Amino acid sequence: MTTDDKLIKIDMGALQSNTAADADTVLCLGIESSCDETSAAIVDSNRNVLSHIIYSQIPEHQKYGGVVPELAARAHILAIDTVIEQTLAAAGKTINDIDVVAATAGPGLIGGVLVGWMAATGIAQSLNKPLVAVNHLEGHALVPRLSATAANGSGEGASVDFPYLLMLASGGHCQILLVRGVGQYEMIGQTMDDSAGEAFDKISKMLGLGYPGGPIVDKRAQSGNPKRFHFPRPLCDKPGCDFSFSGIKTAARMMLDKNTEAIDDKFIDDFCASFQASVVDCIVNRLTHAMATDVVRDAKPKTLVVAGGVAKNSAIRAAMEKLAGEHHMIFAAPPMNLCTDNGAMIAWAGIENWRIGNIVKSPIAPRPRWPLNEL
Ligand code: KG4
Ligand code: ZN
Repeated sequence: MTTDDKLIKIDMGALQSNTAADADTVLCLGIESSCDETSAAIVDSNRNVLSHIIYSQIPEHQKYGGVVPELAARAHILAIDTVIEQTLAAAGKTINDIDVVAATAGPGLIGGVLVGWMAATGIAQSLNKPLVAVNHLEGHALVPRLSATAANGSGEGASVDFPYLLMLASGGHCQILLVRGVGQYEMIGQTMDDSAGEAFDKISKMLGLGYPGGPIVDKRAQSGNPKRFHFPRPLCDKPGCDFSFSGIKTAARMMLDKNTEAIDDKFIDDFCASFQASVVDCIVNRLTHAMATDVVRDAKPKTLVVAGGVAKNSAIRAAMEKLAGEHHMIFAAPPMNLCTDNGAMIAWAGIENWRIGNIVKSPIAPRPRWPLNEL
């Protein structure tokens, strides 16, 4: 296969927990292909990542300012065999050493999901190994149990116990969930329109900063003045835990259309900082409401967790850590490189589901839409 200049290989390396493998340790091969990363990882049941490779398609989609589903599906086909072969080689394993095979079976861009899912199905069937159909969102939701940076002094590599209150913010989703256990998700709030990641990506596009926008806007915001521009805080004056980000995006468009000042570096930094402050305020407001709901109070989660690509955002992490402290909760987040889409989170969700016997017993069709609370 050729990956030429359209794909960037990222070797994520290994990640050791404090528990070494023993005779009962189970190895899971996890495959992720639901958006613009083709990734595979080998993770064991003692929370060790043996190997982890990502082929990112960012250069392929950059010129379009967003992911083009058909191009993504083709790029996954190009990369999938190589990613799996390299992941096995990096772990010093052969396919026969794998005990469980897991792949994203939705939600996501269905052309890409099919590529990873069919590869996993072929491997599992030919080797007669258990196969787990992982919900991509569950991958994000459970990865803090593989490894997290917890603000209770336990540092990176800690795990998170159930139940926990989760802010799941990615390019496609924005939800507050009460995570009671594997497969047990209670939706506390969700976006009524755009996701947080989408808002970051669209603001970046408006400013001509590139794709994906989140990391660029985050960086620019760090040297900007968050008070210079006034962005709305949609729904924050209303009860409930739902989000709306489309108004922030429209406000940005109108501000830029009416603007008569020079759009120099200072302007862009301040614009990004002001926009980001509005997203942070919305998240803090909605999480505060979530903590006050009967369902969350009754469950008494000890940990406030952020996951998904937007969990990389420095201001969101800092604000959530402060909020957790004010409510006598621990704050936990996955390490930066396990926030955006990756194979390790799918392998880990594979292990967690395999443990409770949630394996595929008859052929299933991958799902472009698959809400977590339907698990
Ligand atoms: O979870 P993810 O990799 O893919 C989906 O499942 O959607 O999330 C990707 C999203 C993109 O919208 C990207 O702009 C956003 O995560 N993102 C960030 C940051 N890094 C990635 N958003 C805000 N700040 C960041 N530092
Ligand atoms: Zn994702």
